[in-house]
Amino acid sequence: MKLPARIVIAVGAALVAAVLGEAAWQAIAPARPASSSFIEAVRPVIGGPFRLADHTGRTVTERTFLGKVQLVFFGFTRCPDVCPTALSTIASLLDQLGQDAAKIQPIFISIDPERDTPDLLAGYVDAFHPSLVGLTGTPEQIDEAAGKFGVYYKKVLGAAEGEYSMDHTATIFILDGTGAFLSTLDYHESEGVMLEKLRRAIAKLQPL
Ligand code: NI
Repeated sequence: MKLPARIVIAVGAALVAAVLGEAAWQAIAPARPASSSFIEAVRPVIGGPFRLADHTGRTVTERTFLGKVQLVFFGFTRCPDVCPTALSTIASLLDQLGQDAAKIQPIFISIDPERDTPDLLAGYVDAFHPSLVGLTGTPEQIDEAAGKFGVYYKKVLGAAEGEYSMDHTATIFILDGTGAFLSTLDYHESEGVMLEKLRRAIAKLQPL
């Protein structure tokens, strides 16, 4: 897809999201209250231990992707707009990074584990980018992982019985090679700004 089309879709999706009330630009609350420790106080505690299953059924923890810049996004495969837009943007950024894309691990964590099985996730992530990993788990595991990132999500019941959608935080988190929070990507930013953030994150990578 060429850049202008992406922008049109992103803007369209943004409008739809605003209308639907999806919490696309919800401010990121620190995952924990301010700490008395100086070091923790200056660096927001986002991310942390989790245990989930990837789209091949393999167990994945916060340690699995250490050594790479991690791009973490929470969403669900039936999301009509915000999730596909975010994942398309990530794919576009990776394409623009060329060989450096190998230093980035994009991760999609389902906040709809009832419906997003590993099999379903496998087909979904593959449609966006070959390096994208889809993670799911039990509702408790997802709740714990989302909590670590300060991510909000909520089931919204539809008109028909058994039908529902999900409201969710749509922030893309950037973690450094040690799994520590670095920054976020935001829909307000141009892809140029996002690319610069990723290049800086890559430049900071240290051998483990
Ligand atoms: Ni979504």
